[in-house]
Amino acid sequence: MKKHLIAPAFLALASGIGSTSVSAANLTLYCSAQEEWCQLMARGFEDATGVDVAMTRKSSGETFAQVKAEEANPKGDVWWGGTGDPHLQAAEEDLTEPYVSPMREQLHPWSIAQAESAGDKTIGIYSGALGYGYNTDLLAAEGLPEPACWKDLLKPEFKGHVQMANPNSSGTAYTTLATMAQLFGEDEGFEYMKGLHANINQYTKSGSAPIKAAGLGETTIGIVFMHDAVAQAVAGFPVKVVAPCEGTGYEIGSMSIIKGARNIDEAKQFYDWALSAEAQNLALQVDAFQVPSNMSAETSDKAPDLSSIKLIDYDFKTYGSSDTRKRLLEKWDNEVSVLPQ
Ligand code: G6P
Repeated sequence: MKKHLIAPAFLALASGIGSTSVSAANLTLYCSAQEEWCQLMARGFEDATGVDVAMTRKSSGETFAQVKAEEANPKGDVWWGGTGDPHLQAAEEDLTEPYVSPMREQLHPWSIAQAESAGDKTIGIYSGALGYGYNTDLLAAEGLPEPACWKDLLKPEFKGHVQMANPNSSGTAYTTLATMAQLFGEDEGFEYMKGLHANINQYTKSGSAPIKAAGLGETTIGIVFMHDAVAQAVAGFPVKVVAPCEGTGYEIGSMSIIKGARNIDEAKQFYDWALSAEAQNLALQVDAFQVPSNMSAETSDKAPDLSSIKLIDYDFKTYGSSDTRKRLLEKWDNEVSVLPQ
């Protein structure tokens, strides 16, 4: 019996596959931040620890749906990044695992508040304000007025010029829907979404796609987190970033350990590492301009200054709750997305 157990390891060593392929630790990472940052986090953790990481990038709403679908047989270990609302919903639906990291004392209060409101089943890793960006060349070529407010995007001259993601798949777009409900009240917020729908040229799957499209001149305006618009401007595209005049919502990008994680030790190891200043500083290498949750991590001077933006007091408890998120998405599906354009 013993002989059989030893044999494969011995054979692997002898055939030059190497001992690490036999004993290597693994981590399955579900990532909902931007692709380049996801890849860098996976590689950075591998370099720091020797743990092999299998990473998949999917949008926040899609990852929530996947974690829910895999509830009986979890395949992921850590869900890193993406807007906080679906992480909060996952916590409420008991899809994620409580964990109090020793790194917590290094974090901003807004990050810890997210954890405390969810029984320690999630935590804030970055924050960023919602807004939009537009292609200045296209705007000028079309003779369109410079938009400065949310309500400007409803003007008939912007018909076919605005792009945003689908709030079912994308956390960015759900933040947009929840922001309008909070900024204008739910009824008026839905009227706003209906008016906006008339001007939308495409609902994308991923939240940042609309501003990448604007950079390339495929749409004039993209509704995204402001830091995603800054990234396009920094990359040299003719994109102007707008903090809407009425005020705006924001995200607390979050991280959660998936309940029933097969590699729970590595999951906690990743979680602690991801909260360190060193890991959060990797963001700067990929022009991820969110505000990091570790108080010692660096915020780029190109990052939108949240203290100078009119932010609403986003109610994460309500808009990250299972009831509200399901209800608003259903209402958007039934009352907004079906309207003619
Ligand atoms: C971009 C932003 C992140 C945000 C994420 C959500 O990557 O930079 O700050 O958390 O989008 O992605 P989603 O595709 O769910 O809207």
